[in-house]
Amino acid sequence: MLCGLFFSGCKKKDSAGNPDEIVIGEFASLTGATASFGQSAHKGVRMAVDEANANGGVLGKKLRLVTEDDQSKAGEAATVVRRMISREKPVAIIGEVASSRSLEAAPICQQNKIPMISPASTNPKVTETGDYIFRVCFIDPFQGAVLAKFMLQRGWKNAAILTDVKQDYAVGLTDFFKDYFTKNGGTIVSEQSYSSGDKDFKAQLTSIRSTNPEAILVAGYYNEAGLIASQARELDIKVPLLGGDGWDSPSLVEVAGDAMEGNFFSNHFSAEDKSPAVQDFLAKYKAKYLESPDAMSALAYDATMLLFDAMKRAGTTDSAALRDAIASTSGFPAVTGNITLDANRNASKSAVILQIQNGKFRFVETVAP
Ligand code: PHE
Repeated sequence: MLCGLFFSGCKKKDSAGNPDEIVIGEFASLTGATASFGQSAHKGVRMAVDEANANGGVLGKKLRLVTEDDQSKAGEAATVVRRMISREKPVAIIGEVASSRSLEAAPICQQNKIPMISPASTNPKVTETGDYIFRVCFIDPFQGAVLAKFMLQRGWKNAAILTDVKQDYAVGLTDFFKDYFTKNGGTIVSEQSYSSGDKDFKAQLTSIRSTNPEAILVAGYYNEAGLIASQARELDIKVPLLGGDGWDSPSLVEVAGDAMEGNFFSNHFSAEDKSPAVQDFLAKYKAKYLESPDAMSALAYDATMLLFDAMKRAGTTDSAALRDAIASTSGFPAVTGNITLDANRNASKSAVILQIQNGKFRFVETVAP
């Protein structure tokens, strides 16, 4: 009895078997190259769990969050998710941000029939893994078209592309961008690639410069995007650089400084959105963490709250019933926009375009699906 009330103080050998609590799993890149993704997502998940526990838990039970760090490393997501499933027996798993790491873990969750909800992985293949795999964000065929359309509207018809070929996200985004751009009057004048972790992009940028693009798509994550922006400046490339959601990190500007000014990226969320859902979240988040949330924290909070909503609707955490309840999510009021999951377990939501101005991410426009 005491354990039920004060479960956090109880030392149980087999906590996975504690009938008074529900175990929620999370895997995230808390350290390593894209640590800011994992840190932000974790804060969002933590906030949702704390909030639910403060309100008495879910289905009369307290929630216990188990988080594993995949260190931003290829191969590690599969290892930590396998371990978490066998040791902790979570009823569902939240993760990951990076598509390649979600793709590693998804088959393991599918095999074990544990619902996995990715907050932010946008590559279509993630949810194609199977019927236990969900996401609460839009997918890259949409994001690629949003970026292509934005360039064409600005009159930038000749684009160059620089892609991180080590990330499924970047490779997919490039393909979907190219498809829309070239079908709608644009020309790709140069296609270059790099690998996550690279530091020197001068050869690719020099080659891009010789083709005189009007804009450059940098499909990849924030660290390399920051370095690319700096080196583009050094090479006197003055045209705007554009990125996708993978640019979203405070480190983007820390790495690049002034060289990022004026560039654009598409994202899931803008902290400048005046909607009560966003402003309430912002206030709660700032009070808890003394910093502003980014897209990952908002999406991870949404993914976790959506999971709790499904548990309540299912009236149980049993695997098949919980899966069905998540799958039938409709009009769930989330911070990043209402979420209805389609037959492919994806969400159809608006994107925003942001511009870096004085080191801040300023809202430019919303693009509906
Ligand atoms: N969409 C990226 C991916 O699939 C991850 C990401 C989402 C990064 C949101 C930043 C913000 O890999």
